[in-house]
Amino acid sequence: MELAKTIKSVRSWVNVARSKGKKIGFVPTMGALHIGHISLIEAARKNTDFVVVSIFVNPTQFGPGEDFEKYPRPLDTDLEICKKAGADVVFAPSAKEMYPMKNLTWVNVEKLTAPLCGRCRPGHFRGVATVCTKFFNIVAPDIAFFGQKDAQQVAVVKKMAADLNMSLEIVVCPTVREKNGLAISSRNRYLTAQEKKDAASIYKSLRKCEQMVKEGIRETEPIIAQMRKILSPVSAIEYISIVDAQTLETIDKIAGTAIAAVAVKIGSTRLIDNILIDVLAG
Ligand code: PAJ
Repeated sequence: MELAKTIKSVRSWVNVARSKGKKIGFVPTMGALHIGHISLIEAARKNTDFVVVSIFVNPTQFGPGEDFEKYPRPLDTDLEICKKAGADVVFAPSAKEMYPMKNLTWVNVEKLTAPLCGRCRPGHFRGVATVCTKFFNIVAPDIAFFGQKDAQQVAVVKKMAADLNMSLEIVVCPTVREKNGLAISSRNRYLTAQEKKDAASIYKSLRKCEQMVKEGIRETEPIIAQMRKILSPVSAIEYISIVDAQTLETIDKIAGTAIAAVAVKIGSTRLIDNILIDVLAG
């Protein structure tokens, strides 16, 4: 496995692979890797011939007062994990390499970035869309792999790639969870043992939603009320939303594919999770 710290070097590794006819897979991450990230690397390994993993804590997607400084950066462990998971190249640039001058060009996906996390984290998705565009231009992958864990990010990146005719496929991998249902996240390491237990309520609330839909309930209001009952004793709720999976617009009644999404704060840690809900339209 190679470590590339510069754009020039990652491009040259990719060019060698491409000249041999290899299909390029790309997994963008901010490091502090866990089994969720590993599942993406493994999917890339399975579906492509040459796997590039980026590790970059992207400053432009953090707002003032968020955890940019505190975000864990265990590079040596991350490199070991990438090697074991079968990455061919890790691209771990400095902030200066990625943003040598003040950025004047931004990728702004409208509408999809307004609700859910966009409401509480203004500018976040502009930073994500911009850095993903930069990575896609640098690595030029055939397929990029993202996790369903960040459902809004998936919707934004897919729309951006379609609108801007980016020549790559976006593959979405399922959310990897702890035994108690808690979605694995780099931010889980901020949680105390008690908070981790409390955080299991997040998935519990999503399962409740799933169960109510299975029972035939389609109106979102009573579902959200039940989810709130589960979440409010253990967390500060930022949002509980049921939205159309494509437009991310809030819906009153579930038909077709929807996303039930939750963002809460447990202690000082912000956690998000979601599930896809599929019902026959009509
Ligand atoms: P990061 O939070 O490190 O996540 C990198 C990728 O791992 C994302 O596609 C995310 O959805 C996926 N992921 C995280 N937890 C997961 C889990 N439990 N199961 C499955 N996949 C999981 O998302 C980012 O970084 C950044 O915004 C990035 C796209 C790298 C741009 O900076």
